[in-house]
Amino acid sequence: MTLVTGGGNGIGAAVVNRLAASGVTVVIADRDLEGAERTAARIRAEASAEPRARVAGVGRVEVRGIDVSDFDAVDALVDWIVERHGRLDDACNCAGVTGVRADLAEYPEAVFRRVLEVDAGGVFACLRAELGAMATRGGGRVVNVASGAAALGVAGSSAYVAAKHAVAGLTRTAAIEYAARGIAVNAVSPGLVMTDAVDLDVDRFVAAHPSGRPVTPEEVADVVAWLLLDAPPQLTGALIPIDGGLTAQIAGVA
Ligand SMILES: NC(=O)c1ccc[n+]([C@@H]2O[C@H](COP(=O)([O-])OP(=O)(O)OC[C@H]3O[C@@H](n4cnc5c(N)ncnc54)[C@H](O)[C@@H]3O)[C@@H](O)[C@H]2O)c1
Repeated sequence: MTLVTGGGNGIGAAVVNRLAASGVTVVIADRDLEGAERTAARIRAEASAEPRARVAGVGRVEVRGIDVSDFDAVDALVDWIVERHGRLDDACNCAGVTGVRADLAEYPEAVFRRVLEVDAGGVFACLRAELGAMATRGGGRVVNVASGAAALGVAGSSAYVAAKHAVAGLTRTAAIEYAARGIAVNAVSPGLVMTDAVDLDVDRFVAAHPSGRPVTPEEVADVVAWLLLDAPPQLTGALIPIDGGLTAQIAGVA
């Protein structure tokens, strides 16, 4: 039983797809209930068109509407999963918002607070509930979806950068605290993925990727699925870039 927050759209939807195709039962938790239902319906339709699915259990997806910045709602969600399924094995914390683009002196306070609440607070709330349930069960795996902005600055995106740096810190701290309890906690840091969340000068950003192209949601989903299902348990506390070399370089040096 795996929980994917933000699984209604974009990268999270690709993660749900990939996990469901591997026979994992997934709960999609998203504020966008319609998007989550759409993702679930697509997976169920694909599974029923594929007879193998009925045998392997492929395509079992459930949907819950939730705001990850609401700590009580996150606790209730994880309690509901444990009550209904007996346990929580894995989680991918992908729900996130980007905020607006503005230099620091002009950055709106309300947007700063909301980005921190969702991207940092949401990951904290989810980790808190998930790690509690996994520790009781005796193990588990968590992948947080961070960003290149978890390690580097991005002009015009101070709130997002601050929140994603928090995700990096939470990932490392959770990994240390729970390693001896059989729980691995890692993060992935995608480069540009062409989803609805993208509001940048896309051409310039793509050109900054040494690979010369954006990352696909499926490429991120493949790494998340590997971390959750196949990676060695000693791999914990890592931030793994999936960015075509974007954050490996010193920009402008040929
Ligand atoms: N797209 C990129 O280029 C990119 C790059 C690096 C990291 N990321 C990160 O990947 C994650 C997914 O981004 P995406 O590009 O797929 O965006 P998206 O907007 O397509 O999907 C985000 C999902 O999170 C959900 N969500 C937002 N706020 C929520 C809340 N408070 N509670 C519950 N659900 C909420 C949305 O409804 C949506 O389904 C985010 O954490 C984002 O920061 C994206």
